[in-house]
Amino acid sequence: KRVAILISGGGSNMVRLVEAMTGDCPARPCLVLANVPGAGGLARAQALGVPTALVDHKPFGPDRAGFETALTAELDKAQPDIIALAGFMRVLTERFVTRWQGRMLNIHPSLLPKYRGLNTHARAIEAGDAEAGCTVHEVTAELDDGPILGQARVPIRPGDTPETLAARVLEQEHRLYPAVLCRFAAGDRRPLRVP
Ligand code: GRF
Repeated sequence: KRVAILISGGGSNMVRLVEAMTGDCPARPCLVLANVPGAGGLARAQALGVPTALVDHKPFGPDRAGFETALTAELDKAQPDIIALAGFMRVLTERFVTRWQGRMLNIHPSLLPKYRGLNTHARAIEAGDAEAGCTVHEVTAELDDGPILGQARVPIRPGDTPETLAARVLEQEHRLYPAVLCRFAAGDRRPLRVP
């Protein structure tokens, strides 16, 4: 399966996904696309030999459809079978999501259905939760709400800040996402829980 990875920043999840798409994992990266000029992940993707593209969302302003038309033009060139959102910070319209329904994944840094949206770590700490984690899910029109494909849990420790917790969760994201993507590419949609 050909996989396009969409990023907005450093692309640490993208790097792990690309590194995992070898051997008997039935997926190969065909494109890394960023919506932010200078996103660190673009240089990292190039260093890994993966084709890249930039579609800056800023010139489109509130015109989400216009941005997605440009995005789709780049995707059409790469012909992906699967889209993996990895630190991609744009909300996609229902039209785009519907077109990719069942073939688009996202990783979210919380144990969904808890803490959809932003600032997930601060909210978990604030709530006094004993644990936090990350979720890989299929993308649907509802933000952070599609079928769950995998989760990983970490303890929240006394004295944790959103930063220390984010770092602990990110380590698990880097383990969970590649495992889920390779299974998904093989047609296995059973939820995966990594200990
Ligand atoms: C991180 O906060 C991660 O939890 C979320 O996206 C952000 C950046 O990830 N998935 P990456 O390093 O760009 O993959």
